[in-house]
Amino acid sequence: MVTRSDNERLTKVGPGTPMGGLMRRYWIPAAFSDQVAKPDSPPVRVRLMGEDLVLFRDSQGRLGLFDEFCPHRTASMFFGRNEQGGLRCVYHGLKFDVTGQCVDLPCLPPNFAGDAERIRSEIKINAYPCLERGGVVWTYMGPRDMQPAFPDLEWTALPASHRHASRHIQDCNWLQALEGGFDAPHLTFLHVGDAEPSRSVVPSHYEVVATDFGFAVATGRDLGGPNIHWNINVMLMPFHKIISTVPPAAHVWVPIDDGQTMLYSVEFRRDRPLDKKDLATMAEGHGIHTENIPGTDVAVRNKSNDYLIDRDLQASGKSYTGLKGFGIQDCAIQESMGPVANRTREYLLPGDAAIVKLRRLLLRALDDHAAGKPPPGMNPASYRVTSSRWEVAKGTDFAATIIDRLRANSTLPAK
Ligand code: FES
Ligand SMILES: [Fe+2]
Repeated sequence: MVTRSDNERLTKVGPGTPMGGLMRRYWIPAAFSDQVAKPDSPPVRVRLMGEDLVLFRDSQGRLGLFDEFCPHRTASMFFGRNEQGGLRCVYHGLKFDVTGQCVDLPCLPPNFAGDAERIRSEIKINAYPCLERGGVVWTYMGPRDMQPAFPDLEWTALPASHRHASRHIQDCNWLQALEGGFDAPHLTFLHVGDAEPSRSVVPSHYEVVATDFGFAVATGRDLGGPNIHWNINVMLMPFHKIISTVPPAAHVWVPIDDGQTMLYSVEFRRDRPLDKKDLATMAEGHGIHTENIPGTDVAVRNKSNDYLIDRDLQASGKSYTGLKGFGIQDCAIQESMGPVANRTREYLLPGDAAIVKLRRLLLRALDDHAAGKPPPGMNPASYRVTSSRWEVAKGTDFAATIIDRLRANSTLPAK
């Protein structure tokens, strides 16, 4: 159980909130690179962390991400003209470069010509720095003098042929979606019919190990032989997960605002390109991906249509939920808690150890951040870990070796 005030501290992400401040210390996915594929291509709207922004790529290929609303009379820059090194507001023609500086002020009457340069230099739009990694545009929304280096996140360093990424909107707060990703016991229920059979065996062992990047969650299953079959997933601050599926996968739960989340889902191969067959299945929206309404980030199966639940399929026993696909099953159940789950009403069970640990980690990070200490994971090399699977003889002290094993398994060379 969580107090009302801690629930608010953990979930609210707008400017000036504790979690909003902490999260803004990290690089945050804003869009896919191909949404602004070419120089001077049309700007796109980005709602991120409760802020309305526009993203564009200027004539030189540089990325600009700034407030949607023009500082003159607050018209939307979405309608702007992306031309010759900047985005021009179509209302009165003010033009801004990627740093947010006004670079052209064409609407002054002739008798103000002498002041034009001074007025122009004073007008700025709030802009955030961007970079591209792994086919994603990332931004840093925190204090400029605290901008960290980009983390050594394995999937972002792989060639494009080795990964497939999709995204869709979840109609709920980022934390309950992230918590869903670390809720190990649900695999034995929610995904039955879609999960690998071995994952439907109730885990007999849980290990949650705190680290300098976040934590690792190991679930061990006894399938009857001499070994325990361990699956180790990794949580990287503040909203990443690396999953021990084959091929491996990653999620990033990015707050759009307090009540909506953009879930990025990536599948990748560490050592070779993805197979054509796998790629086709992913592109169709199977597994952790979703089939979206064309031209949108909204899943075809969504809250407004009860995710097209098939009650006959559910009754048949072939699918525990009657919902199609992992991604939609998770989404439906996480959204069913409401926009922001009321954690004051929970009755947690022993299998919820990872959830408890996650909240403690985040609350401690909030306290430390408020006290002026650096957040976890500011060292890029601390992200050099992988998700993994191991069979280990029963009785082995596995917990003590988890982090070393995860680091050794990373395809990124140790620093
Ligand atoms: S509102 Fe943008 S130029 Fe006037
Ligand atoms: Fe799930």
